[in-house]
Amino acid sequence: MSVFRTKSIEQSIADTDEPEYQLKKSLTALDLTVFGVGVVIGAGIFTLTGRVAHEMTGPGIVISFVVAAVCCALAAMCYAEFASTVPVSGSAYTFSYASLGEVFAWIIGWDLILEMFLGASVVAQGWSAYLGVLLGKFGIALPEFLAYGASPFSETKGFDLMAILLIIALGVLITVGIKESLRVNMVLVGVKLFIVLFVIVAGLMFVNPANYTPFIPDSVPSAASEGFSWTQPLIQWLTGAAPAAFGWSGVFAGAALVFFAYIGFDVVATTAEETRNPQRDLPIGIIASLIICTVLYCAVALVVVGMVNYADIDPSAALANAFAHHGQGWMATLISAGAVAGLTTVVLTLMIGATRIIFAMSRDNLLPVGLARVHPKYRTPWRISIVVTMACLIFAGLTPIGMLEEMVNIGTLSAFILVSLAVVVLRRKRPDLPRAFKVPFSPVLPILSALICFYLTLNLSLETWVRFLVWMALGFLIYAAYGYRNARLATGKALPHDIQQAMAEGVVRPDDQR
Ligand code: ALA
Repeated sequence: MSVFRTKSIEQSIADTDEPEYQLKKSLTALDLTVFGVGVVIGAGIFTLTGRVAHEMTGPGIVISFVVAAVCCALAAMCYAEFASTVPVSGSAYTFSYASLGEVFAWIIGWDLILEMFLGASVVAQGWSAYLGVLLGKFGIALPEFLAYGASPFSETKGFDLMAILLIIALGVLITVGIKESLRVNMVLVGVKLFIVLFVIVAGLMFVNPANYTPFIPDSVPSAASEGFSWTQPLIQWLTGAAPAAFGWSGVFAGAALVFFAYIGFDVVATTAEETRNPQRDLPIGIIASLIICTVLYCAVALVVVGMVNYADIDPSAALANAFAHHGQGWMATLISAGAVAGLTTVVLTLMIGATRIIFAMSRDNLLPVGLARVHPKYRTPWRISIVVTMACLIFAGLTPIGMLEEMVNIGTLSAFILVSLAVVVLRRKRPDLPRAFKVPFSPVLPILSALICFYLTLNLSLETWVRFLVWMALGFLIYAAYGYRNARLATGKALPHDIQQAMAEGVVRPDDQR
């Protein structure tokens, strides 16, 4: 038995050729792009922009967005090559089980769980921030201890009631298996795009060019700079630099944080089985959604830091409050309403993503297969849905603002690093497989991708690294104690009947993240 055992790619593909497993192949490159943009645009641009500009970068946040985009573009190409080689519905977890081996698949799966369930929690908090602004416009104010930003660990003691209610509502939806319909999704994506374009176009009228100087404010010692701070980027600590904000180091630390705004394009890769021509359309869908988001993000950031001086920018609901700052109350209301609608789908998609990745891992019995049991009536992996809902509820409701984003990023960046390296490995191991899309200049670009992702992780805070290492240690412990021994690949045990049946019916698809 080896921790590097792999599931064969041919077998994974052959499984999906069985008529009863086959999904309707109807999605086009355009559908995938809409889907991608729908998942990606979320709390990152709506809430993080304000905080990062205010605390770390000033107008230089535009450069942070470009740096993060370059990192994602390289990783996206690696994802695209993977998806075009192994066109079964799946995530990086499935890809790596087929190429790098079980232990890497486990690490990636464990990272993806972190990405998705904490990601959902962060976006729920952002949703609550905008709902607070919206309710405020109608004269409704929640008591402070129940509002956005309240937590047992922050200055305002309490919990984020609205974020909790949203998670419960969506948790019920995923447990009873109401499918997010493509049409509702299209409408919500439309609303979100409209709001983003509205901010760009309407905001231009209020831009004051003086706000762009200095574009990269001089570095200043950060508040807790007396020698040591848990919140300083790892790289500052490693190089012995004094903890500081702004300046170029602020721009890179900002890039590591706004990276969050791009998370989700990888989810496009999970629709492979439903795509008419996956080997051509997946790479187009992944890369097109990334390009659209990059252009929009840079434009929004440029406009918002031009409208309000970075020192005065609102760190929670920056997009709406930039307009309120200029006395445009109705515009702020419109933006908040759009954000509330648009962010809902992001939370839902990420929660479903978390359940599906856990389902895939339980199905392979790397996590207990009992978790993946399917509800007789609702036909969903209800146990997993409940676990995910509870976890999101606790994290969204009780953690202070700004604690989770970095954890999501470090989890995702680690998965990207492995995916990038996996491209190089798979080219060596299986040069024979047809690849509709190939990363140009391999192995240089995939290695560069891994290096840039790694560099961004170094720009995350010391405390994030410690938390991440604890998370990974926990993961290894579970793998050693359970997955290694019980993996279906090793034992060859059949799947419980209800899971087999649900998969055959196409009710629950193993790696479907929608
Ligand atoms: N990229 C997603 C967002 O910004 C996760 O909310």
